[in-house]
Amino acid sequence: MSRVRVAPSLLACDLARVADEVRSVEAAGADLLHFDVMDGHFVPNLTFGPGLCSVVSRITSLPLDVHLMVTNADALVEPFVRAGANRISVHVEAVTHLHRTIELIRASGATPGVAINPATPVGSLDEVWPLVGFVLAMSVNPGFGGQRFIPELLDKLVRMAAERDRRAPGVELVVDGGVDVANARTLRPLGVNILVAGTAVFGEEDRARAIARLRGEERA
Ligand code: DX5
Ligand code: ZN
Repeated sequence: MSRVRVAPSLLACDLARVADEVRSVEAAGADLLHFDVMDGHFVPNLTFGPGLCSVVSRITSLPLDVHLMVTNADALVEPFVRAGANRISVHVEAVTHLHRTIELIRASGATPGVAINPATPVGSLDEVWPLVGFVLAMSVNPGFGGQRFIPELLDKLVRMAAERDRRAPGVELVVDGGVDVANARTLRPLGVNILVAGTAVFGEEDRARAIARLRGEERA
């Protein structure tokens, strides 16, 4: 099994020092940067648009993983690709013509992913597995950073990993929300490929140590 990758979520960084924050996690060994886009409609909060994404893309060589928590995803795909997004996920609950949106992301030059809320059944991904590069399982209800990981999600993640292995073994499984060193220890052996972590990285002084510990490379 390959090493789990860590995607720090900029939602938890100090935005007043965003360039330093991005450089600090890049230097600390982050694999990707996770960029949470909220529209105040699909989720009850507002965050960043393509403008900030473009600024971030100019100061890092890390792949940008854009998580669209929005209802009008189609209108945002190309602006985010132009702003440097390498991977774009949309919510299965928010998008009406999911197949079309996935194709649009791919045609725009980014890797398409589908995000799924805690209460949405695994079966809603049945037709999607062969179409995407990754599936992002929310382990909190989307909208805010710093929430507690929902423990009942572990059983769902086991079933998602089994479905992935059966239907599309190349698809990455991403877990997002409330990830910390303790639950990362449980998540890694389930076949999760990428851990998104906001608070567990940006809330720590020593980012290299925080990332290493999420990967299971414990250091003193
Ligand atoms: C929640 C976001 C997550 C979140 C992760 O809506 O999608 O990416 O910011 O942050 P933590 O790790 O603090 O839960
Ligand atoms: Zn996210």
